[in-house]
Amino acid sequence: MIQVVLLGAGNVANHFYKALKESEEVQVVQWYSRQLNKVLGVQNETRITDRLDTLLEADVYIMAVNDDAIHELSSQLPFQNRLVVHTSGSVGIHDLDKKLRRGVFYPLQTFTKDVDISFEKVPICIEALEKEDLVLLKTLAESIRAPHYKINTEQRQTLHVAAVFVNNFANQLYRIAHEITDAKQIPFDILKPLILETAQKIDTLSPYMAQTGPAKRDDKKTIKRHLKLLENNDHKQLYELLTQSIKKTHGRR
Ligand SMILES: NC(=O)c1ccc[n+]([C@@H]2O[C@H](COP(=O)([O-])OP(=O)(O)OC[C@H]3O[C@@H](n4cnc5c(N)ncnc54)[C@H](OP(=O)(O)O)[C@@H]3O)[C@@H](O)[C@H]2O)c1
Repeated sequence: MIQVVLLGAGNVANHFYKALKESEEVQVVQWYSRQLNKVLGVQNETRITDRLDTLLEADVYIMAVNDDAIHELSSQLPFQNRLVVHTSGSVGIHDLDKKLRRGVFYPLQTFTKDVDISFEKVPICIEALEKEDLVLLKTLAESIRAPHYKINTEQRQTLHVAAVFVNNFANQLYRIAHEITDAKQIPFDILKPLILETAQKIDTLSPYMAQTGPAKRDDKKTIKRHLKLLENNDHKQLYELLTQSIKKTHGRR
């Protein structure tokens, strides 16, 4: 049985808590949140605390807190030589205080507290300085049925940049499409099957092969019409930038 203490009570910590609680190979022995009210709901299931000096002993401490708080919080932990992992895509393993056995348990997915997700769809990037800690983190990922990859800090930070393109930037483009359709009283729902089909296509095709549209075909008149239709200058600039990028990728000028 792997004993876990969770630190933080935001999106990631809540999803980890639910998944770890379901596992028969793991016991969440304690949940720390600096605001106790955020974990009061589970006080009948596990121990809760808002005081670092009352942290219990565990095999692994999962610190799912803001990137900028990781270093400071790790240095405030009142013990040494225990395995502490953070869950960030962009913070280095060495940002954790060196008095600890350090590791990373980064779930490459987008989490929102009240939106359910199955951990079978959450690749976990794991990293540890000690071999036996790596083995423990693999077992922990397997206990919640999550696929896992051994990824070092440099690879993880690169993955995180790529993730910003496929997740945050793609989502911002959905947002712009929403603004464009709203402005002309067109239901955004009409675009949803296209969004899903575009995402599903890359299961079988590379993004290069999956590309279609006026920029790839170099349909100059259509591109001109689109630019004329766009009323917002920021949207126009983005359209031009992405059109240029697609043209370059597909050998158009
Ligand atoms: N959300 C995602 O989709 C996602 C995906 C993969 C990885 N991550 C990573 O997971 C980590 C947590 O992200 P999140 O989305 O769960 O963030 P979040 O929802 O904003 O929650 C952050 C938690 O950290 C706590 N916290 C912040 N500063 C602290 C400090 N100095 N001491 C103690 N607790 C502190 C917050 O406490 P208060 O509530 O009291 O402020 C809150 O409980 C980050 O490293 C993030 O990069 C996030």
